[in-house]
Amino acid sequence: MVKDELLKLLEENRGEILSGNDLKDALGVSRNAVWKAIQLLKEEGHHIESIKNKGYILLKESDVLSVSGLLQALGTSPTYRVEVLEEVPSTNTYLKESDGKKNNTLVFAKKQTKGRGRLGRSFFSEDPGGLYFSLLKIEDLPRYNPSYATIACALSVRDALSEVSGLSLSIKWVNDIYYEGKKLAGILTEGTLEMETGTLSSLILGIGINVNTGSFPKELEDIATSLFMETGRTYVRQEVARTVLFHLEKNLLLTKENPGALLAAYKKHLLYIGEAITFLYDKKLRMGILKDLTPEGHLLVESDGAYLTLHSGEISIRKGDRT
Ligand code: BTN
Repeated sequence: MVKDELLKLLEENRGEILSGNDLKDALGVSRNAVWKAIQLLKEEGHHIESIKNKGYILLKESDVLSVSGLLQALGTSPTYRVEVLEEVPSTNTYLKESDGKKNNTLVFAKKQTKGRGRLGRSFFSEDPGGLYFSLLKIEDLPRYNPSYATIACALSVRDALSEVSGLSLSIKWVNDIYYEGKKLAGILTEGTLEMETGTLSSLILGIGINVNTGSFPKELEDIATSLFMETGRTYVRQEVARTVLFHLEKNLLLTKENPGALLAAYKKHLLYIGEAITFLYDKKLRMGILKDLTPEGHLLVESDGAYLTLHSGEISIRKGDRT
């Protein structure tokens, strides 16, 4: 389609003017066809300026997710296949249902109607300014330790968001990203385990980031925030995704090569160490002091004079000693 080819050229030359003549020659179509395709892209929300007698420019700040834009943003980093869906219940579920056919595929959704969070909770993902995506990994998995993969993902999102925004962000165990008491991003890692070895045979990393989100439903107003709300500027989400994936590749390697370094970096940003927390254990709500992160990536908590190890699969923690 002319429109897609045109967008590819514009993305490759973001921020630069491309003349109508050059575009028509490169695409092998008439000037009028170029003009029509430009109108269609504008209707989709791309910020393209037409400059009289000069040509067209895709503005640097244009923020519409597209396959060509994402491939361009991801550059030569590991070869992912990329899909962009207008709307889907959940990108994690979409990959889960792909029967393993979408290894190394990144699926982005402009909107999720049933975004899922940890412990069966929902994740608000109806705002068009958010970034909602999942990655399926099947190859090369046997050496990933399940908790390390989750930790690598949380650290990558934290580091990437700090890098692009300049905000000092924290991680609430196991993988929520927080800024000053409000949630900025959530991660849902889902995998299948080889029972004999306890290692992963497939891994889906689902990441939801409130990037340019301008408002939340009433019930989330006091507990959620976005990069836009905290910094007063908007972000090109393709760039945010690129930064997350850059950190993710690096940290997934660490899970195999140097998990100690991964855990140390993660722990530096972990909330509530040395503080009182509330958590559900053995179906009872308990209080304790968060003592440490274990070398396996679990939480060590002192409660009623005993030490307990909390595993991420079943537990959520809260600051404080009240329910
Ligand atoms: C949480 O808050 O507990 C985790 C939220 C994870 C949300 C992301 S958005 C992309 C992917 N698809 C989903 O349904 N969930 C994850």
